[in-house]
Amino acid sequence: MDHIGSESRPGINLKINSVERIKISGLHLSDLPNVATILKDFVEFRGLDISNIERMLYLRFRYGKWINRIDRCIKHGSPKFLFTDTYDLTAFVAEEAKNRVVGVIIAYPTMDDVWLLHQIAVLPNYRRRGIGYQLMKKLVAHIKSREGQKIQLYVQPNNLAAVKLYKKLGFTIANQPILMEMDLRNLR
Ligand SMILES: CC(C)(COP(=O)(O)OP(=O)(O)OC[C@H]1O[C@@H](n2cnc3c(N)ncnc32)[C@H](O)[C@@H]1OP(=O)(O)O)[C@@H](O)C(=O)NCCC(=O)NCCS
Repeated sequence: MDHIGSESRPGINLKINSVERIKISGLHLSDLPNVATILKDFVEFRGLDISNIERMLYLRFRYGKWINRIDRCIKHGSPKFLFTDTYDLTAFVAEEAKNRVVGVIIAYPTMDDVWLLHQIAVLPNYRRRGIGYQLMKKLVAHIKSREGQKIQLYVQPNNLAAVKLYKKLGFTIANQPILMEMDLRNLR
């Protein structure tokens, strides 16, 4: 079965407490219905129903990698990039005991050694148990193993949970982009 990420299941087991176990492993296409539910509140999916979010994710994971690989072949002038998964979109999921996906993290390289963290989310009832942190650690180790040198991400400053998570891992604020806007309503 297809999985997105460096390793096949069963993945690592993370013991949260004596009754509950969480497993982090590469995303399988069969996880997409659950992942769509976890990501439904992200801006890019707002207004879409779950089945359409699932379809979008399916296209991204099933076929997106070929677009990226072909891009790299053209950029580097070498067909070898068609046959390497080094720079593929990468996703890991956190599963609880009954294989229910409760968290997801997705990243991809923007340049060969600079990766962008695209999405991370944990189901509300499973937050504050260390799952987001473990997903991040897994991703960082994966990117390091792919010889990535930097991870970048965008976060709203008022998203305190996310900002604190990233700071705990060692992220610092890079050169901040400035949001500029022009209100056209009063323009004559
Ligand atoms: C951000 C998010 C993924 C964190 O996941 P999580 O599993 O709850 O995080 P963890 O339990 O691993 O927490 C790790 C650290 O993050 C910080 N943190 C997480 N949630 C926090 C909260 N609500 N308030 C303050 N700090 C928080 C803490 O420093 C925590 O370490 P600590 O427990 O030692 O204090 C989760 O809140 C989420 O899914 N949010 C909605 C989606 C989102 O905003 N994604 C980020 C987009 S940029």
